[in-house]
Amino acid sequence: CGIVGYIGNSDAKEPLLSGLEKLEYRGYDSAGIALRNEQGTYVFKEQGRIATLRTSVDQDVMASVGIGHTRWATHGVPSKRNAHPHQSESGRFTLVHNGVIENADSLKQAYLVGVPFASDTDTEVIVQLIARLVEEDGLQTEEAVRQALSLMKGSYAIALLDEEDAETIFVAKNKSPLLIGVGEGVNVISSDAMAMLQVTDQFLEIEDGELVLVHRDAVTIKSPDGVIQERSPYQAELDASDIEKGMYDHFMLKEIDEQSIALRNIIQKYQHEDGETRLDSDIRTVVQESDRVYIVAAGTSYHAGLVGKQLMEKIAHKPVEVHIASEFVYNMPLLSKKPLFVFISQSGETADSRAVLVKVKELGHRTLTITNVPGSTLSREADFTLHTFAGPEIAVASTKAYTAQMAVLTLLAVDTARVSGIELDFDPLQELGIVANAIEALCSQKDVFEEIAKTYLMTTRNTFFIGRAVDYYVALEGALKLKEISYIQAEGFAGGELKHGTIALIEEGTPVIALTTQSHVNLNIRANVQEVVARGASPIILSMEGLEQPSDTFVLPRVHEWLAPLVAVVPLQLISYYAALHRGCDVDKPRNLAKSVTVE
Ligand code: G6P
Repeated sequence: CGIVGYIGNSDAKEPLLSGLEKLEYRGYDSAGIALRNEQGTYVFKEQGRIATLRTSVDQDVMASVGIGHTRWATHGVPSKRNAHPHQSESGRFTLVHNGVIENADSLKQAYLVGVPFASDTDTEVIVQLIARLVEEDGLQTEEAVRQALSLMKGSYAIALLDEEDAETIFVAKNKSPLLIGVGEGVNVISSDAMAMLQVTDQFLEIEDGELVLVHRDAVTIKSPDGVIQERSPYQAELDASDIEKGMYDHFMLKEIDEQSIALRNIIQKYQHEDGETRLDSDIRTVVQESDRVYIVAAGTSYHAGLVGKQLMEKIAHKPVEVHIASEFVYNMPLLSKKPLFVFISQSGETADSRAVLVKVKELGHRTLTITNVPGSTLSREADFTLHTFAGPEIAVASTKAYTAQMAVLTLLAVDTARVSGIELDFDPLQELGIVANAIEALCSQKDVFEEIAKTYLMTTRNTFFIGRAVDYYVALEGALKLKEISYIQAEGFAGGELKHGTIALIEEGTPVIALTTQSHVNLNIRANVQEVVARGASPIILSMEGLEQPSDTFVLPRVHEWLAPLVAVVPLQLISYYAALHRGCDVDKPRNLAKSVTVE
């Protein structure tokens, strides 16, 4: 979910609505705003996108104070009734919330028996609780918020309006991201700096547990025990044009095209004056001192981690395990003596990954985050950060962040190898440069991939992606891309494993996309293709130059085998894009998903 707030000198409607549009990547199943003026508080909410909300907001209501929310449903179905803002029974308090209150039910039973609830959300419990503490227990609003915060368990970022205080928005957070943007006679609240760049580029970070009083021309930050905290704003280094689609119909296509730029950016950012790539000496030391690396991530970033393991083990001879963040804490492996935890996260906000970070920090282990958003929670809370420099990624389906993550993991592996004195005949800058050219070449042949999508994926129910060795990991990512945006049931499989059960699903015409970029398994994966063809499948074979056979569907430009995933994924991204486009799907905002999932 995403939150915005505005208290200033002009009408709040537009900054709130356009801010929410920029936050839609955090969820888009319902949205709402509350506007506060001398007459009172006006709430507008709708199921669906911000575009729908826009049409329902009464343009005649002028207000210079307001809060807004775009939702990804956790408690309660996506509906207008469950959309935020939520109000107390009296109507005095109005609240937006991102996160999950784990003890909402017990708070309801302990404090709110008999209070009629208008929604199924945990959020309404917070606002009713604050109202009760003020209206029945006689606390001042600030005190009531502080007390409510101390009773709440879970993750939250909240913004609250009090009908009797036109000059304040009450703000707090715990484990969920929230920033205060500071301007001249105007202050704003936002889950992400990007959403409020049209108002200011100066932002204040808030610590977990703090209570912030946001006024028109002042921001007061208080510690949990009420002590005022001094803090200076930082300047958000974002270019507003990075978050516009420009000439493209979809962010996803723009971001696929930007992959070569992202790689060149990484090369430049990590290159030193002597021409070599070197990582920060502290990062070098911590990697060197570790006896095993544990990569923890979710979704596409997890798939980048799988490739990262191969790179670290092949290039740097460092043992690596890769784990899905949401499983790690419940299913913790026996750890080595000196583990290093590496979190890979585009957004740096994924709650599942953060839960592991918190846990391993408690255990006293060293942590490194690889992220596209340097000021993000995972970046701030880990000991070290490596930035992926891909620029803002807006489409929900991740593309350029994935290739950038693998490029940074390559640099990490090469740097670790060098420090360990391992002889390498692999120049990462040169090889990544070749990869960038190959990606560009692929992006200039989009019509080929559009044709593949049109030929094989327009009516199919399911599709299989197969590969061996590192191609298997790319197959997993290809399948994830296709199912995320086109809703075709897609599965990525190790070529040899398909025959152990899943081959039962192959029917006449089932598309099977096979990758072959690794010489040592080229013949083996082709044998697997024959097995599915014998059962009626329609094969789409993508091979790497040098390994091709006449019947292959497409031959990828040659790059170093270690880096083949960065190139092989591009056709899969493009095929998924065109499949979704021609099946009439909402490419950038697929159903049920959110780009940044800040709940566990
Ligand atoms: C969400 C997104 C995925 C993403 C995953 C991890 O589920 O829809 O595209 O891969 O989160 O996100 P992160 O920001 O941690 O890389």
